[in-house]
Amino acid sequence: MNPSRHGTSPAHDRARLPATGDQLKILITREQLAAKVAELGALITADFAGESVVLIGVLKGAAIFLADLARHIDLDASFDFIAVSSYRNSRQSGELKLTKNVDDSLEGKNVILVEDILDTGVTLTYIRKLLQTRQPKTFKVAALLDKASRRKVAVEADYVGFKIPNLFVVGYGLDFGGRYRNLPDVYVLESPSDRA
Ligand code: IMP
Ligand code: MG
Repeated sequence: MNPSRHGTSPAHDRARLPATGDQLKILITREQLAAKVAELGALITADFAGESVVLIGVLKGAAIFLADLARHIDLDASFDFIAVSSYRNSRQSGELKLTKNVDDSLEGKNVILVEDILDTGVTLTYIRKLLQTRQPKTFKVAALLDKASRRKVAVEADYVGFKIPNLFVVGYGLDFGGRYRNLPDVYVLESPSDRA
């Protein structure tokens, strides 16, 4: 990806970043994000023409992607949210806990799970299993970013924004220790000052 060909201005770069000591380098500009999200919305609109959809965002990272994507979906739509947390302290990666379930019934609904990033696939596999027990009519996954090379579990998204290499990224909803979700572009976090 070459952001310079897509209208990156210095304003997109480091000027707005807080003085945390982290090094951030732009990977996907807000213009590229906007164009891709519009494309995904149009695809979803065409795929579900004449039907209703329920968008389920995975908190917190997918909040911004969902908000933008939803406005490009020209269908009867509703939102719901789910949250999972992992026990990082116990160093047992893959140990997930549901901290917020969906509020409404999904039975007979066209469910589109909205994820910020598909990495190892562990989170998506866990959530998919959980939501499929609620008997939706269809179940699709929209992931803004896909780090395919990191996959540990065979799972794919139906709608993918950008395939990216094995880099740690922040911005547009994605965080590092809760920070940077508000950045309008996606950045690579290089040599983080305090990697937890
Ligand atoms: P998975 O279970 O390994 O697929 O991880 C998915 C979750 O890990 C995402 O929903 C993110 O919260 C987090 N994650 C994975 N890669 C990144 C990254 O590069 N930046 C920020 N969060 C990430
Ligand atoms: Mg996160």
